[in-house]
Amino acid sequence: MTTKKTYILGIESSCDDTSAAVLCNKKVLSNVVATQDIHRQYGGVVPELASRAHQQNIVPVVHQALAKANIDKKDLSAIAFTKGPGLMGSLLVGTSFAKSLALGLDIPLIAVNHMEAHILAHFIDDDEHSGEPKFPFLALTISGGHTQIVLVKDYFDMEIMGETLDDAVGEAFDKSAKLMGLPYPGGPLVDKHAQKGNPKAFDFPKPKVDGLNFSFSGLKTGILYFLQRETKRNPDFISENIDDICASVQETILDILMEKLQLAAEQTGISQIAIGGGVAANSGIRARLRNAEAELGWQTYIPKFQYCTDNAAMIGITGYLKYLKGHFSNQRVAAKARFAIGS
Ligand code: KG4
Ligand code: ZN
Repeated sequence: MTTKKTYILGIESSCDDTSAAVLCNKKVLSNVVATQDIHRQYGGVVPELASRAHQQNIVPVVHQALAKANIDKKDLSAIAFTKGPGLMGSLLVGTSFAKSLALGLDIPLIAVNHMEAHILAHFIDDDEHSGEPKFPFLALTISGGHTQIVLVKDYFDMEIMGETLDDAVGEAFDKSAKLMGLPYPGGPLVDKHAQKGNPKAFDFPKPKVDGLNFSFSGLKTGILYFLQRETKRNPDFISENIDDICASVQETILDILMEKLQLAAEQTGISQIAIGGGVAANSGIRARLRNAEAELGWQTYIPKFQYCTDNAAMIGITGYLKYLKGHFSNQRVAAKARFAIGS
């Protein structure tokens, strides 16, 4: 039996990456991402500048995605776009574009939840694919905008078990990096220094949060006071100890994540663990998960880096899975800045 070929155009514009991808069923034919460098000089994403950049990028990015996939827009089966959560001005650009194109081509429109898409990125069929997680599994979504532990019972049957009460884990990395004078986004630089440092060199406070929720704002304050105290004694403290400070900060963040993940695994009896989001690129979390395979008997899943950070391929795969179920939207669909999983 031959499977019908379905071509989905995915569009992502929830934060500071404008992305378009074309999928043929579960395979990615193209995944173009325009990253907005403008935010670097401000040390974080500036919403107004993000929506303006999306407005400039969206048409060329979609053109490029279609060209790379060697697909004419007339051959598209449906258009999937990020409805939320995210920055309203940014979401509006992708949403309006997707609605107009679907109307013009007279094809179905599929609204996608960005957080569900980070999880469903695990179902992209890739040559180097390590296999799909089996239901039910636990998903840890960690990025600059989110930190969640989700119980995934089926593609569209998910339940948030825990999430951050303040900063996202990527923000914890970026804000700590900023305190050390590292440029934005500091997460990858902390990771790089940490690989050369001693993770036990310094102790930072761990939050006491009941259950499966997270908190990272106290850690940031702890690091600030620590650095203020040490640089008073030695103005060169940071530059002389950057590797050890980064390793210790990273160790604390990973301890917090792993403790909660382990608790969720114990509570549910589930050992299928999938992670996603930009922070999943961190070498330390990857090593911790590999160790957990041996020590805790977990089966762990980490998507390729390009499907971890914000990208349209994950919107495309979610769109395809919804297409199979006939989950379509009409032209009245609107972007939603706050949009919970499963709602
Ligand atoms: O998923 P993403 O590209 O965008 C969203 O925030 O949605 O994630 C970006 C975040 C940033 O906070 C960045 O510092 C962090 O992921 N990040 C890392 C690493 N690579 C990216 N954090 C720690 N270690 C890394 N290697
Ligand atoms: Zn994201």
